[in-house]
Amino acid sequence: MFITNSISPSEYMGLRKAVGWGEFPLEEAKAGLDHSFVWCIREDDGRRPIGLARVIWDHGYVMYIADVIVIPEYQGQGLGRTLMENIMTFINDQLKPGYRFMVTLVSAKGKETFYEKFGFVSRPNEEVGPGMHQWFGNG
Ligand SMILES: CC(C)(COP(=O)(O)OP(=O)(O)OC[C@H]1O[C@@H](n2cnc3c(N)ncnc32)[C@H](O)[C@@H]1OP(=O)(O)O)[C@@H](O)C(=O)NCCC(=O)NCCS
Repeated sequence: MFITNSISPSEYMGLRKAVGWGEFPLEEAKAGLDHSFVWCIREDDGRRPIGLARVIWDHGYVMYIADVIVIPEYQGQGLGRTLMENIMTFINDQLKPGYRFMVTLVSAKGKETFYEKFGFVSRPNEEVGPGMHQWFGNG
């Protein structure tokens, strides 16, 4: 398998579907991909996408990790770790002297331990409140 920095909107929706996540119109999916940094793990044969991770960055201090996905048949083989290690390297590479980034993500239920392995801290804790979100649109 190998990593590329691109994935088509329909491949992207296929990965979301494979882990039971909602799909978006392809136009919306494409807009998201066009404005994010992408890591896609593909099979050697046929280049089928089997893993994905995205980073959305405002080029200031705000970074967000989204869509960390490994399809079920490949889970537990280190691919999620590979994706996160690529992201960690990317983030560190963007730092300049004096810069700080706050990198956030929304963990799926029960996946906190996976992200804690890469230094992320669960909220709320004694210092910070919970993360919050709201969906718009009916889908
Ligand atoms: C979460 C997910 C990306 C992990 O990918 P993966 O390829 O199975 O993970 P890896 O095999 O690389 O495991 C990496 C490490 O995380 C740990 N880990 C993996 N899944 C975990 C889980 N659900 N809970 C706790 N730890 C987990 C592994 O034990 C491993 O630890 P180690 O490297 O110290 O031995 C994958 O299960 C997935 O796509 N799930 C569905 C979508 C999802 O929930 N995505 C993340 C939420 S936003």
